[in-house]
Amino acid sequence: MKTISLKVNPRRPSKRKIQTAAEIIRRGGLVAFPTETVYGLGANALDAGAVRKIFSAKGRPLDNPVIVHIAKKEELEKLARRIPKKAKILAERFWPGPLTLVLKKSRAVPKAATAGLDTVAIRMPRNRIALELISASGVPIAAPSANISGRPSPTSAKHVMQDLNGKIDAVIDGGAVDIGLESTVLDMTVRMPTILRPGGVALEELQNVIGRVVLYRKKGKEKPRSPGMKYRHYAPRAELILVGDSAKIPEIAGTLRGKKIGILATKETAMRYTGAVEVVGSRKNLREVARNLFSALRKLDESGVDVIISESFEEKGIGLAIMNRLRKAASRVV
Ligand code: TXA
Ligand code: MG
Repeated sequence: MKTISLKVNPRRPSKRKIQTAAEIIRRGGLVAFPTETVYGLGANALDAGAVRKIFSAKGRPLDNPVIVHIAKKEELEKLARRIPKKAKILAERFWPGPLTLVLKKSRAVPKAATAGLDTVAIRMPRNRIALELISASGVPIAAPSANISGRPSPTSAKHVMQDLNGKIDAVIDGGAVDIGLESTVLDMTVRMPTILRPGGVALEELQNVIGRVVLYRKKGKEKPRSPGMKYRHYAPRAELILVGDSAKIPEIAGTLRGKKIGILATKETAMRYTGAVEVVGSRKNLREVARNLFSALRKLDESGVDVIISESFEEKGIGLAIMNRLRKAASRVV
């Protein structure tokens, strides 16, 4: 299959190109598109056959459900039932934006999208291209991140092509994304709203609006509530070592003789290291770190390193999501 690239201006997306992409979605094809978080790999969420194609293109485990994207808040009522008051308040406050709500699914949503669960994850993205694509398609769009399963999520159309060229019908190239990490996934089907995946909306922001919100922690042998949690994720090809105290990094690097080492560093610390150093931003601006994190991992991979040593970040605000991704990508935490 030849993957076509549709380059559009993110502020004034060409109607014609959006129509071309929407036509592919309506016919049951796959289109990667930018959102404010990361690029998504979209298909008609109401067409089980189209949704199944997403899983085979990504090599995604069949038990990992996808997020359904909508362009208008009212579409929520068609896809979910028994929507709690607090979920409506959150949608009002954070949509369009990087918050995904897990709710009881309606019959309109095929089981292929929810991996057989009776709940569905829904979000309204804040990116203009994404919203226009959903509206032009006339259907909700199921979309996981547009990467090969397990790899760092794509924050540009180039990353999408690295992973999926030849496996999908089209990619809309709308430039770099804004946030750089995925949405916050919040389970609203339980008594205590529970974050299944920290992301673009911070825990503190949710608490300010609806009071108590907890972070999910798997208990003992319990089956993880978000099936995606059991897999290694966001991982570069190189082995990733996550280091708590960055002062120890030169010493750790010294023990890895014979290996090509890359370091994921910050503006404040980069001068301590030698070799392949990728600066993700300033420690004083974690939004910048989030935006550059996945592309930095991909760049280090491209430079051919065997091991990536990464600094750690304070788990406040978006820092919680940054550390979540780094921990899941890491094969060792020191
Ligand atoms: O920012 C984002 O969320 C991006 C953009 C494209 O919207 N999408 C994204 O999708 O990150 P994906 O598939 O890579 O991650 C979705 C996460 C997975 O961890 C999945 O297990 C969880 O959401 N999820 C989806 N449906 C669920 C459900 N019904 N119950 C629990 N978890 C669910
Ligand atoms: Mg993903």
